[in-house]
Amino acid sequence: MTLVEVLVPTKITLFGEHAVVYGIPAIASTIPVYIRIIGKRIDENIVKIRIEKGIQIPSQIFVVKRDENVYEVLGDQNYTKKVLQYIIEALNLCEERLGLNTRSLGYDISIESSLPQGIGLGTSAAISVGITTLCMALNNYIINFEEQKYEIAEISWNVEKRVQGSASPMDTFTISLGGLRYIEPLVPAAHLIDINYEIPLLIGYTNRVGTTAELIRKVKLLREKNENLFNSVLNTIKQIVEKAKDAIKNGDIETLGILMNINHGLLRALGVVNLEHDLLTHILLKAGALGVKTSGAGNGGAFIVLAPSEESLKNLAFVAESLGAKIVAKGIVKEGVKFYIR
Ligand code: MEV
Repeated sequence: MTLVEVLVPTKITLFGEHAVVYGIPAIASTIPVYIRIIGKRIDENIVKIRIEKGIQIPSQIFVVKRDENVYEVLGDQNYTKKVLQYIIEALNLCEERLGLNTRSLGYDISIESSLPQGIGLGTSAAISVGITTLCMALNNYIINFEEQKYEIAEISWNVEKRVQGSASPMDTFTISLGGLRYIEPLVPAAHLIDINYEIPLLIGYTNRVGTTAELIRKVKLLREKNENLFNSVLNTIKQIVEKAKDAIKNGDIETLGILMNINHGLLRALGVVNLEHDLLTHILLKAGALGVKTSGAGNGGAFIVLAPSEESLKNLAFVAESLGAKIVAKGIVKEGVKFYIR
């Protein structure tokens, strides 16, 4: 029986989260923190899922009968329920696309991640992209992987929309295609911003309260109550994203830092920056960072720090960790999802 291993990077949003949900472009990138998925087809009509570590679930095995309602089986274990929802929806939508008899096939899947679920580094998108890739590879659908990555991104985006209610294409397109991407959500398109220098970035997270879906709803409520003001904020974020794209291309790190700080301020205006991130921001800027910003849906979770040089990353990482944050990576990567037949 063919065994497939899928390596999926997670991601940061450099500019434009939340605004991207309303059609404004954004800039995101894959980072060197991976989720590893290994799977094979089995003859029984079940999905056997082994969560090896991380994802805020103790190591355990779940067996989901394809023709039953998985969510009832799981009662109120919220995080477990969410992870399994992404997996099962990705299998359903992938099989639908492949013209297979949905819910009749069996899989044995194991997932390994060092990250907790739901901290704003795109773990749910990574699971959706990873399972879609796995399903396509196991069902012999992959002929030209590079070209088919757009299709994988699109299916995974539909998975996110189904599970979360609403999502922009940013996370799934970035993770599928890889690298630093300028996202046009209304197309949707994810253009590569090709650079030949290292951006001195630190990526970390603090605890997060609430889910991405809840935070998207919170921002939507703000919009309903203050439409004109909200649109001005969106318009400013749009200008920041355009300026940031130029600054990245020109290697203008100082301007990039300023733009990150302004974008962070606007995320606060949208009500998605918590006290912990505000404190981190102030102290890291005092410690010499050029820019510090909440990244992703917010209310804690992921943040990014732009250092003036590669040498100063270590000191800033030390400051962030002494404030209780966890640093998970330095810098970004160019690769998107990958798979290997074992
Ligand atoms: C989530 O990583 C970022 C948000 O903009 C939601 C989305 O783009 O789907 C908050």
